[in-house]
Amino acid sequence: MSRRRYAEEFLTELRSRADIVSLISEYVRLRRAGRRYVGLCPFHQEKTPSFSVDPEKQLFYCFGCGQGGNVFTFLMKMESMSFQDAVETLARKVGLPLPKASLDPEAQKRRAQAAGIRKALEFARDRYREMLFSAHGVQALKYLEGRGLSRDIIDMFQLGYVPAQWDFITQGAIKAGIGVRYLELSGLAIQGRRGTYYDRFRNRIMFPIWDTRGELIGFAGRALGDEEPKYLNSPDTPIFHKGRELYALHLAKPGIRSKGRVCVMEGYMDVISMFQNGIDYVVAGMGTAFSVEQARALLLLCEDVVLAYDQDEAGKKAVRRCIDVFREAGGRSRVVTFEGAKDPDEFVGKYGGGRFGQLIENAPTDIRFIYEEAAKSADISTVEGKLHVKDIMIPVLASLDSEFEISVYTSELSRQLDVRKESLEKDVESYRRRLRGSRAGASEYKNPKNSNTTGYDNQSRSIREDYGVHGSGIALGRQRAEEGIIRALVEKPELIRMASAYLDESDFAGNMCRLVYTNLASSPKLPEDHEVSGWIAEICAKFGPVDRPERVLMDCVRRLKEFQLSELREEMKLVQEAQDEQRLMAIINEYQELLRQVKSTRGDSLDSFPDDFPGREEG
Ligand code: UTP
Ligand code: MN
Repeated sequence: MSRRRYAEEFLTELRSRADIVSLISEYVRLRRAGRRYVGLCPFHQEKTPSFSVDPEKQLFYCFGCGQGGNVFTFLMKMESMSFQDAVETLARKVGLPLPKASLDPEAQKRRAQAAGIRKALEFARDRYREMLFSAHGVQALKYLEGRGLSRDIIDMFQLGYVPAQWDFITQGAIKAGIGVRYLELSGLAIQGRRGTYYDRFRNRIMFPIWDTRGELIGFAGRALGDEEPKYLNSPDTPIFHKGRELYALHLAKPGIRSKGRVCVMEGYMDVISMFQNGIDYVVAGMGTAFSVEQARALLLLCEDVVLAYDQDEAGKKAVRRCIDVFREAGGRSRVVTFEGAKDPDEFVGKYGGGRFGQLIENAPTDIRFIYEEAAKSADISTVEGKLHVKDIMIPVLASLDSEFEISVYTSELSRQLDVRKESLEKDVESYRRRLRGSRAGASEYKNPKNSNTTGYDNQSRSIREDYGVHGSGIALGRQRAEEGIIRALVEKPELIRMASAYLDESDFAGNMCRLVYTNLASSPKLPEDHEVSGWIAEICAKFGPVDRPERVLMDCVRRLKEFQLSELREEMKLVQEAQDEQRLMAIINEYQELLRQVKSTRGDSLDSFPDDFPGREEG
């Protein structure tokens, strides 16, 4: 995909010139500690340094939050930018010219197109702003002022107005030499039935929409009165993807960083109104359902996510979805509720920003919010009421990844409903078993090697997850063995020949392990992909230095084979119960073959498995 646009040589050259220590030093005060550098992690709040930079491998890793990677990954996380942008930024920084030739014709076309679209949008934005302060915009300006917005805020958000004329922008842009093609591509103009072009936005207050770097990518236009639709948005274009962008993120970023918190709202006006009232860490979606991608972008910036949605039914529903989305993205959220106003904008209008700041401060966690909503609709002093709340909460608790959270919330629920904790725990446990059963059972029976039908697929989770806590997924020991194999191969890629005498990619249940193994098997070079290199950094840090990679490799291979043996034994039991003779014979053969392999690994292994390997137990 996008990384293919650059030659490996170019990326290697860039990485060595950029030097990870000097890049990170621009953001974090680093001090030397042996062969590495350490400092406070920029990706989570901490008081003692657990962030470390390895100048030899040109990788960074945080033992506190588990983030890691190379120069590109660092910039991507730090600046919330794409791989592409990180490469270009670094190249500019170190004065390395971007290789023109490596841009394939497709990419060159895309780039020229994006530039054309941007020019059209910028032209329109400037005209809209002029109009707001002209005689045409009197009513619109009054409207905005009536909603409490100062000149400064109107400027900050670059608000504008487009008159009621049917071709105001189309005509102006053509006169200014902007091609009709770009007007259409940018969503500003629409071609009518007789071939003429007319404006998409007419007689509306115009809200520019930017990407994370503050580049203009589209507009939302609000009706002045009750016309439908209330908000008209730019369509998705080559540079505008509603599922990806967050309204006002580039303006909110400094606030988000300094407060370590982001507040997510539904409406553009809500966001603007917060800034007007001194709350500067606020963003909104694009009027579409919040996506995991949007959630991840925010979780890279901070941990504390507060959802402040409208207080109507639709808002409540959207919040529930959003809670799940943040969980899926590997984070958590809190939820603001209030009375006496339908949305945050109205609330601050009535009660002020200070009161809303307090609501944000004291917002309950996602799980507490779900409980409170459930308890509102029931009388929990009655058995029926308790059952109602329990039926809502058990699946919620069972879906949590963290044992700690499950325990905390189960205790809380037992107090709230005045029932014994043990009985709730049993319900949660049996619900989890059922969940797991329906997710893993069937396919494991068919193919014991591919037992990756569980949570371990989700790489973002495995990166963030505390190693000690492992709610579901691949057995911890198996995972360690697979990662140990990769760790050894990273240290000494030539060992792939030794490994491939015993393994092929289908032996790996972990997606990342399988991917990296497959890659190493075809080329001795480590993959350049940022996600992969982040993961490798994590593995390297987790296992620490490896002095004898041969031995680590063979010990882990044997461990993995032993796991496969025990998996086969399990499957044999199932198959015997099902009286599937044919399958049973196949498994017995497979078992014997595996057994032979396990024995032969003993020959290669130098001595028995050391107690202190693999890796740190404490996670
Ligand atoms: P709201 O109707 O709550 O808008 O829609 P709002 O921000 O409170 O607007 P005001 O205060 O009435 O001016 C919330 C969001 O849903 C999307 C927009 O993103 C809006 O900000 N929306 C709403 C649309 O895209 N189209 C619509 O017609 C309405
Ligand atoms: Mn509103």
